[in-house]
Amino acid sequence: MADPAAMKGGFALAPLPDGEPRLEKIVVKSALATMGTPEHLTKYEEIVPPSKLGARKLMMGDDPALPKMSAAPTLFEFFEKRFQPLNVDHLLQSATLALKSGIGEKGVLACLLHDISVAGLLNGDHGYWGAQLIAPYVDEEVVFAVRYHQALRFFPDPEAGYDYPQAYIDLFGADYKPEPYIKADYEFARAHKWYGLARMVTLNDLYSFQPDSQVKLEDFTDIVGRHFRQPVEGLGFDNSPVAHMWRSMIWPRNFL
Ligand SMILES: [Fe+2]
Ligand SMILES: [Fe+2]
Repeated sequence: MADPAAMKGGFALAPLPDGEPRLEKIVVKSALATMGTPEHLTKYEEIVPPSKLGARKLMMGDDPALPKMSAAPTLFEFFEKRFQPLNVDHLLQSATLALKSGIGEKGVLACLLHDISVAGLLNGDHGYWGAQLIAPYVDEEVVFAVRYHQALRFFPDPEAGYDYPQAYIDLFGADYKPEPYIKADYEFARAHKWYGLARMVTLNDLYSFQPDSQVKLEDFTDIVGRHFRQPVEGLGFDNSPVAHMWRSMIWPRNFL
């Protein structure tokens, strides 16, 4: 069993040679992670003034609490080293359902990536963040499907076989009403020529989390290879308009 003192955030810290004291760096969480909590108002207390720091320093660069990424990170590396495991399972199961349904490979990829933001970046407006993250690397219909699945999830389409999810009643309450921008984006997507692919994502977007699922990331190697334009420099280092978003997942606890 892992030493609890060596665990942080569910990840095992890299082992140190015997007897060497661990000099942990100070982590100041990002504003979005602390807003609305007391920590938001106290999080700089340890470092202001900087003379308080002593031998400890602020987190910058590779975080020993996280697996080290390669110099040119691939999409699968993020799945394996950064994304929340239950979310990865959900993505794999959604993609598997899509594969079995006979939808084309673009649809399978959309399902595999649809909650990528929840898995590695941000929950709120995850469809929009996720779409932005993948936009330089996939077909724009896939981007559309990821962006709009978030809004479409709130609106049934009996003809397509999509009912309002019981899980949303359980999670948000029977009286929850989506914000007006979600309704507007649903209406936009509903009338769009690519509605079918976005709706298909919602049809395969089940809350059937099975931690012991037998599906493996490698089952999707070929589809990702054909439809995800992996940059040779690695995600985060290709100078794309979203490279910084991937770098934020490589070094999520950097101070700056
Ligand atoms: Fe989603
Ligand atoms: Fe989902």
